[in-house]
Amino acid sequence: MGKYTRPKGTQDLLPATQRYWEYLRATVRREALQYGFERIDLPLFEETALFTRGVGEATDIVEKEMYSFEDKGGRKITLRPEFTAGVVRAYIENGMRVQPKPVKLYSVGPIFRYERPQAGRYRQFHQFNAEVLGVQEPLADLEVMLLAWDIYAALDFQGLAFQLNSTGCPQCRPAYIQTLTAYYHQHAAEICDTCRRRLTTNPLRVLDCKETRCQPVIAGAPKIAEQLCTECETHFTALRGYLDELEKPYTLNHRLVRGLDYYTKTVFEVWAEGIGAQAAVCGGGRYDGLIELLGGPPTPAVGFAAGLERIIMVMQHQETPVPELPTPPVFIAHLGAAASRVAVQLLVDLRAAGIGAQIAMSGSLRSQLRTADRKGGRFALIIGEREMEHGEVTVKDMAQGWSQTSIPLEAVVAWVQARLKRVSE
Ligand code: HAM
Repeated sequence: MGKYTRPKGTQDLLPATQRYWEYLRATVRREALQYGFERIDLPLFEETALFTRGVGEATDIVEKEMYSFEDKGGRKITLRPEFTAGVVRAYIENGMRVQPKPVKLYSVGPIFRYERPQAGRYRQFHQFNAEVLGVQEPLADLEVMLLAWDIYAALDFQGLAFQLNSTGCPQCRPAYIQTLTAYYHQHAAEICDTCRRRLTTNPLRVLDCKETRCQPVIAGAPKIAEQLCTECETHFTALRGYLDELEKPYTLNHRLVRGLDYYTKTVFEVWAEGIGAQAAVCGGGRYDGLIELLGGPPTPAVGFAAGLERIIMVMQHQETPVPELPTPPVFIAHLGAAASRVAVQLLVDLRAAGIGAQIAMSGSLRSQLRTADRKGGRFALIIGEREMEHGEVTVKDMAQGWSQTSIPLEAVVAWVQARLKRVSE
């Protein structure tokens, strides 16, 4: 091992895994486009205040997980710990409010969170993110939930089910928080320190505490879905109605509150059988107050994000059939200075004709042919002394058990082209 190692919680995505990544990116892109989502690419870093305000001061992300620094101009900068706040900033900044509603945007790219690394949890990871902006109706919630579902279904994930909750709105949530805190104060002796602290900073989060001692308290806690205002209740009922109609399985999960402060009404996750028990593979929800909070006009919105590393882990685990990445069909082997010049010209001519080709860069003919075999191309073209004398190229066709023919040099490009064409027809 060399002197330098990759930073903790990061990964090198080596060539051997790239076919999974290509396949996954192609799948999410195809599904997003089929749903009418448009792609938006955003900076990897934003003003820190966008996230502290957008995601929320009392969230784990803002309290502990942001990669923040001061740039050389003294600006406070943060590597994006999620997409949503950036999408909203771009929506406001680029005047997208004038576009016909809904505005449907998707993104794919790296995300940074200073978390404790473990299997499937990284400090630099990738998300697929989708947002529907400008629509209050539960059809928008349904749209993002269906997109999430279809992505996992397209990847052949097993045991798919939604976890669903409503976290209410500024109308009904304060009363619920009061009930919840009152209940928790009665159980103050039984809960962990973090929950005790959260009761004042971010009370909803006590519901997703993982400490064993807190579980019985959570089990008996009042449920927000039973205290919704009429508007939230109607919204939630309509969304569930759609899901029932479509026979999409969902579990009402009163503990599902999610770790970002902007959510209102719907929150959901997709759970799937991955590596072992069912676990969340993506999460999202509605955030009707965020655009206004960040300085835009009041605009309802809903979205979700999926972690790509976790999807890849499941794909590899369940041995999802993924096509090999294409390799150039031609490999040129050559021997001697004069032959190498002819070989280079042939290489250039093949590429100009749209045929993928590689050339041996060192070694004996024997070792070059071994390389050709390993590279997995279809044709090995050999230019040695004998071929130079006769103005020919020896062609080995792997598809024919490395059968060998001699072709006049000037006819080789057309010869290869004709054979490749036959394959693709
Ligand atoms: P999130 O639940 O924080 O939501 O992240 C979404 C997904 O990102 C998770 O379900 C998980 O698959 C993946 N993920 C999170 N942290 C890590 C990590 N450290 N390593 C690997 N994967 C990870 C959001 O980010 C919201 N912005 C989603 C959203 C969009 N809500 C509305 N619109």
